[in-house]
Amino acid sequence: MTEATVTTAPVDAQKPMQDILVVDDEIDNLDLLKRTFRREYNVHTANSAQEALKLLERQEFAVIVSDQRMPEMTGVELLQKAREKYPYTIRILLTGYTDINALVDAINMGHVYRYVTKPWSREEIVMTVKRAVEHYETTKQNFSLLEELKIKNEALENSFKELKRLDELKTRFMVISSHELRTPASIISGNLELLMSGALGEFQKDQKEIVENAYKGTTRLIDLIEDVLSVLRIDSHKLKLNISTFNLHDLVNEGADALKIFIHERKQTVVNNIPAINIEADSNRIYQAVINLLSNAMKYSQDGALIEFSGSVENGAAHIICKDNGIGIPKAELEKIFEKFYQLGDADQHRTSKHKFMGGGSGLGLTIVRGTMEEHNGKVWAESEGTNTGTAIHLVIPLKHVPGNTV
Ligand SMILES: Nc1ncnc2c1ncn2[C@@H]1O[C@H](COP(=O)(O)OP(=O)(O)OP(=O)(O)O)[C@@H](O)[C@H]1O
Ligand SMILES: [Mg+2]
Repeated sequence: MTEATVTTAPVDAQKPMQDILVVDDEIDNLDLLKRTFRREYNVHTANSAQEALKLLERQEFAVIVSDQRMPEMTGVELLQKAREKYPYTIRILLTGYTDINALVDAINMGHVYRYVTKPWSREEIVMTVKRAVEHYETTKQNFSLLEELKIKNEALENSFKELKRLDELKTRFMVISSHELRTPASIISGNLELLMSGALGEFQKDQKEIVENAYKGTTRLIDLIEDVLSVLRIDSHKLKLNISTFNLHDLVNEGADALKIFIHERKQTVVNNIPAINIEADSNRIYQAVINLLSNAMKYSQDGALIEFSGSVENGAAHIICKDNGIGIPKAELEKIFEKFYQLGDADQHRTSKHKFMGGGSGLGLTIVRGTMEEHNGKVWAESEGTNTGTAIHLVIPLKHVPGNTV
């Protein structure tokens, strides 16, 4: 075959030339190979296996083309050694027909990637080396992508660990500071109660008002601290349940009773249509959940609104609904309202009183309700057709408490 009949792809100016190594003990062959490839690759030559090994000490090659029959060491042996050092290098053997048996073994064992029989055609060897170089480039590229991915993954894992550590630190800080705040706040509240009782002497009207406001503020502070502690307990699954049997109808009545001054103030009506359902659960926590739902229904409904509790027993669980005809919730927000500190609209615009229309809050009430339901293996969800269509909050609580048995 003459050189003129071979067409090779034009050299890509952007691409760096790959280094290839040709090994043959016959100088003529080396010259021929060098001339064949020099325009496309940086061709390195070695006229013995030893010389090739020396070159391999210094650098990696994309492709090694080696003659099989050489004194001192066969091509297969050389390629095997090269493979140990550079597993990605593509190894091609130049061989006569008589060496085919040794070749089959070498290929099977992965030492040799391709072979070219002597005398080779220029076209065949050009194509074989071209494919080998491409193969090397792809493997290397994949390898570096993989390495990059590994490094990024490691960095991500480290960031995650750091975030976790910071999160734990933050939780610890919140637990400690909440506990530290609770004691002085309770002392202030107790002393204010004592002052308000008149046991230490009667106040003038404006003095009384000041003390009462201070007491209200302290009560809100204590409520907030308790909410934060509840959320922290829920987050760390440390919410302990105190299980007893009680009646859900009565519990809702108790809740409405506790808020009756505010219900009256807001001219709202609370109807309790829950039948006498006996349930085994933590009555304090379910009571707190009812209070949270009721105060939300009051806060997010106009003065004079109707709030209705209804209930039924379905599949061994009580299904309670707290329905109001208030401001409603956009569909896209129905799940988000259970997130910590989540408040619809501008929280700054909320008035400070907890029971007034759009009154203030911390956005923890429903988070606590959800945590309480999960601890009871129950469920809570919100339903609303959107703004100004009212809201229904559903609770499902198993009638009997079996730890780990979710409804
Ligand atoms: N019945 C309801 N009608 C309309 N929106 C509601 C209702 N209940 C809750 N939401 C919306 O969900 C948000 C989260 O409620 P959540 O009870 O968790 O917090 P909050 O009432 O703002 O504060 P907190 O309960 O901690 O005092 C509320 O800010 C409100 O935007
Ligand atoms: Mg609330």
